[in-house]
Amino acid sequence: MLGHVDHGKTSLLDKIRGSTVIEGEAGAITQHIGATAVPLDVVGEVAGSLVDPTEFDLPGLLFIDTPGHHSFTTLRSRGGALADIAILVVDVNDGFQPQTEEAIKILADSETPFVVAANKVDTIPGWQVTEDAPIQQTLEAQSDRVEQQFNEKLYEIIGELSDAGFTSDFYWRVQDFRSNVGVVPVSAMTGEGIPDLLAVLMGLAQRYMKEDMEIDVTGPGAGTVLEVKEERGFGTTLDVILYDGTVRADDTVVVGGVNGPIVTDVRALLKPRPLAEIRTESRFEKVDEIAAAAGVKIAAPDLDDAIAGAPVRVVRNRDLDDVIADVQAELAEVAVDTGEEGVVVKADTLGSLEAMANALDEAEIPMMRAEVGDIAPRDVAMATTVEEEEYRAILGFNVDVLGDAADRAEQDDVEVFESDVIYQLVEEYEGFVEEIER
Ligand code: GTP
Ligand code: MG
Repeated sequence: MLGHVDHGKTSLLDKIRGSTVIEGEAGAITQHIGATAVPLDVVGEVAGSLVDPTEFDLPGLLFIDTPGHHSFTTLRSRGGALADIAILVVDVNDGFQPQTEEAIKILADSETPFVVAANKVDTIPGWQVTEDAPIQQTLEAQSDRVEQQFNEKLYEIIGELSDAGFTSDFYWRVQDFRSNVGVVPVSAMTGEGIPDLLAVLMGLAQRYMKEDMEIDVTGPGAGTVLEVKEERGFGTTLDVILYDGTVRADDTVVVGGVNGPIVTDVRALLKPRPLAEIRTESRFEKVDEIAAAAGVKIAAPDLDDAIAGAPVRVVRNRDLDDVIADVQAELAEVAVDTGEEGVVVKADTLGSLEAMANALDEAEIPMMRAEVGDIAPRDVAMATTVEEEEYRAILGFNVDVLGDAADRAEQDDVEVFESDVIYQLVEEYEGFVEEIER
């Protein structure tokens, strides 16, 4: 799930979670660390006549939310995006916003197939609610006036997608989801269109997974760090999305860190208690093993230098050096080309650093240093060593300015740019360069 702040990513997941779960029921929806697993039978139940579970051989869908502060770029795996399919959530009233544009760019760069959930259709004035109904059914209940407004709002989104370089249409008119983006009107509030969204996702998942994927759910696990977090009683822990294989409570793992691969022994594998919300709930259940695809919290020593977006690999019966080399190679894949002259770049995760570096490359802005981490006084010191005035700058994506770094920057005439939208950072920096050249 990705999209602009407040467009309804979490609400959509909450609706999918809440609309079916009867406690203790077989195949209930389970809450993972940073993710929600919806088994096939539940998809069938929510989607009603739109999905026939017997037609699919997938176990279900694992949804990963990306909270406001959390860029989708964190969700990377070797050679691209971790997610097989993305759901771009767009508020029908707001249309495309800065983070929507950013999301589209990332989806295009990583060639991730996606659908658009055009959310909050219930806010169209005069909308008649048919709770949890498929969209065609609910549209029949609307007046001509409402339907006209509905069409206008959706065509606006289709137009914006076209400006962004994607041909799209109402999902029921899309023949080939590879060349056309399906737009699914939904309401996270009333549940309308949710059956349609699940049906489209299942169809896409089945097709893409069958063609290009083979998931091994028994071998040594492979995952991506979603977040590095302090957890009371456990010290520094990793929230990990496991996309392949298994992790066991007695495994040794290799994790990407600031100073290269970290080798450590798992101390505990933690799952949130049933129905508990991970961001507010701190009580976990210890498990012995977890299999892909899943979200899990890993407690282990020496994780302080681990970085969000970095790879995690289980060693198990493999040669440790090989696994370290593997993690090293994946870290090197995002190593940024830096030169002697250029700006200093800081970003919150490995993936966002990669996206920043791509954007700067495109804009032909050279970098002298590019790192994951907050803006520290030593970054300011670094920026003062350049000769050209236009490179006396630090660009920070989703990071804090530490200690007296801000004061020092001001004293030393180093320009600091901060934003949580990449292209805004680039634009602001370009504005600064123009000022200098004037
Ligand atoms: P961030 O995580 O901050 O990026 O936001 P989000 O995209 O997860 O949005 P969230 O689900 O928190 O929803 C934002 C607000 O919109 C909340 O007040 C929701 O109640 C409201 N909202 C979400 N979906 C709908 C909808 O379909 N209809 C209406 N009327 N309100 C909605
Ligand atoms: Mg949210």
